[in-house]
Amino acid sequence: MRILLTGGTGYIGSHTAVELIKQGHEVEIVDNLRNSKASVLDRIEQIAGKKPKFYQADLLDTEKINQIFAETQFDLVIHFAGLKAVGESVEIPLEYYKNNIGGTISLLEAMRANNCKRIIFSSSATVYGIQESPEYVETMQTGPGISNPYGRTKYMIEEILKDFAVANPDFEVTILRYFNPVGAHPSGLIGDDPNGRPNNLMPIIMHVASGKIPYLSIFGDDYNTPDGTCIRDYIHVVDLAKGHVAAIKTLKPGVSIYNLGSGKGVSVKEMVAAFEKASGKPLPQQIAGRRAGDLDEFYANPAKAKAELDWQTELTIDDIMVDTLNYLKRENQQ
Ligand code: NAD
Ligand code: UD1
Repeated sequence: MRILLTGGTGYIGSHTAVELIKQGHEVEIVDNLRNSKASVLDRIEQIAGKKPKFYQADLLDTEKINQIFAETQFDLVIHFAGLKAVGESVEIPLEYYKNNIGGTISLLEAMRANNCKRIIFSSSATVYGIQESPEYVETMQTGPGISNPYGRTKYMIEEILKDFAVANPDFEVTILRYFNPVGAHPSGLIGDDPNGRPNNLMPIIMHVASGKIPYLSIFGDDYNTPDGTCIRDYIHVVDLAKGHVAAIKTLKPGVSIYNLGSGKGVSVKEMVAAFEKASGKPLPQQIAGRRAGDLDEFYANPAKAKAELDWQTELTIDDIMVDTLNYLKRENQQ
């Protein structure tokens, strides 16, 4: 297939580009480079043997996006592009709504105008908001309890896609709800390299390990979990990328929704211990207060992806830590 990845130079997009090229797909990328670097394209080529064609463009530039679709007939779009920092989304909500929702509308308009009818969208477990059970299933209600504008953009885009699919019954929409993507490609050539201050646990652990941040603040050890720290479902980014490849095979008219997670919960303290085991060094850390909006525990029920996509995670928390350290070592040598 000829596939356009929006946001394809970013963390998850670049790993997905590698897996798609390895499977023989033609990959092209559009990204405005707000949170990634063009040098990622050479890294993709080094790993997968082919450099994706690249368009530096903003999804909000409807005319330019339309032109890209008019020039090339894409079989599928995988839509990664978006802003994703939860804290920042609270500070600049309009920018988040404009970029994420406006960008998606602009993309859908260009797709419809140029007869491109398949889209896979990067959603998040955050759309589940607050649930009674920590094990999230696709059939659960979404929306209520989402604690921040970033999460609400994901929920709203899902609703837009559902409405769009009703109005355009021949469109094939797949929504993938990612749990906590972490890790890096085992080559050490690509990984999570956000421009600016990191927000999520693993990038912060990496900054502490390389001395850019003095210590990890563990946000609360008084949660209702066995060791008191929050529990999440961490998924190796290479497993996640393979989930996209699997999802292509089952695209069908209407909207299909899948959780992409391991189904296993791991606490913050367990993540730190696994990192220390892999690095052989203690990680400087302190217990800090709770972070607003954090939930005690959640993890995926991944049964639907297993049954329908024939996909499940294969890599472990130890693999995640080894690959993260390998990536960190290479980055620090640059
Ligand atoms: P990322 O920031 O590394 O990649 C997103 C890319 O989109 C960046 O390269 C950025 O420059 C680009 N972009 C943003 N707005 C754009 C626009 N208007 N036009 C063109 N390009 C634009 O993020 P990621 O971690 O790779 O996440 C990819 C997607 O997955 C995002 O939609 C994110 O919300 C979603 N997601 C990520 C996580 C996670 O923990 N990383 C979890 C759940 C869902
Ligand atoms: C966060 C977002 C979620 C988003 C996801 C992936 C919130 C409330 N949720 O999820 O919407 O989809 O990132 O981008 O922000 N932690 C520390 N110290 C740190 C950083 C994190 O103890 O310095 C803890 C957190 O409290 C949490 C766990 O580590 O329990 C994971 O945090 P993080 O990586 O930010 O992911 P989530 O909070 O699950």
